[in-house]
Amino acid sequence: MKTIFSGIQPSGTITLGNYIGAMRQFVDLQEEYNCFFCIVDQHAITVPQERLTLRQNTKSLAAMYLAVGIDPSKSTVFIQSEVPAHAQAGWMLQCTAYIGELERMTQFKDKSHGKEAVSAGLLTYPPLMSADILLYKTDLVPVGEDQKQHLEITRDLADRFNKKFNDIFTIPEVRIPKAGARVMSLQDPLKKMSKSDPNQKAFISMLDDPRKIVKKIKSAVTDSEGVVKYDKENKPGISNLLSIYSVLSDKSIEEIEEMYEGKGYGDFKGDLAEVVVGHIKPIQDRYHALMESTELDEILDQGATKANFVASKMVKKMENAMGLGRKRK
Ligand code: AQP
Repeated sequence: MKTIFSGIQPSGTITLGNYIGAMRQFVDLQEEYNCFFCIVDQHAITVPQERLTLRQNTKSLAAMYLAVGIDPSKSTVFIQSEVPAHAQAGWMLQCTAYIGELERMTQFKDKSHGKEAVSAGLLTYPPLMSADILLYKTDLVPVGEDQKQHLEITRDLADRFNKKFNDIFTIPEVRIPKAGARVMSLQDPLKKMSKSDPNQKAFISMLDDPRKIVKKIKSAVTDSEGVVKYDKENKPGISNLLSIYSVLSDKSIEEIEEMYEGKGYGDFKGDLAEVVVGHIKPIQDRYHALMESTELDEILDQGATKANFVASKMVKKMENAMGLGRKRK
């Protein structure tokens, strides 16, 4: 059985973008693959986090994984910092990576742009992400489009390590969804929707209450033409909303365009809000039940045990390959 790894940062409540681009695919994939789904809290601290909020977001993200339909009897759900192999392997891969290639990463440039103090971790984020993936002999990584570059560097680092030290890593493939790979901000449709966007109106959080969702969709930036038509270049706002509608309703963009021929953005946005709420509300109900149960901690304990077992074996192989410590079997 092939292996999948994917992680999400607990850097805020996940957005509809994270859900459509990443999490939504996980549910079906767990039927065919050996899946590891991780809450990558060590990635979250590459930018400042408030400790209690980080804890809360970590637990909340775990509950969200389960609420969308990840089944812990089929998949391993765990917290990155509870599996020390990630930081250990991350260090070895940092020493395999070059500063130049890390500085070229779009995410580093975006997140460091205009900031006075930028953590070294923000620069060395990709080798840690590579470690996350490579520790589990991952074949496939389902992510949104923004992570494509990080997957490329993961493949480069794995290949470099294999050639330089010992051929121990599986070279992973990226899996980007055909639709919804890049959900855009509701306020600036040229920017991706992000959970840490300071403008709350820019994203739909998976925990927003229905009234808030309706409000955010109604105030989404569109254009003055008033025609519901997909045209990413000239009508990025309405095109983004059409993509969301299509993915969540299983209707093609053309079908939706036909439905709104001769109608204005008001009708379209009202119906889209209903589609989004109809999709998210049952997830929210399961989420709240999980947050109150003791089940969550048990699932995360079991997940950490299983992940530790697999990942520590790969760390040993990496150490042996690089000559760290004493030779052990
Ligand atoms: N807007 C998006 N559209 C589609 N997919 C997206 N993803 C993120 N934003 C979108 C996918 O969600 C997964 C988890 O992402 P992450 O939390 O590891 O980091 P990120 O990509 O940096 O997501 P955010 O929401 O933008 O977080 P912050 O604001 O903290 O940086 C990934 O598979 C990603 O592709």
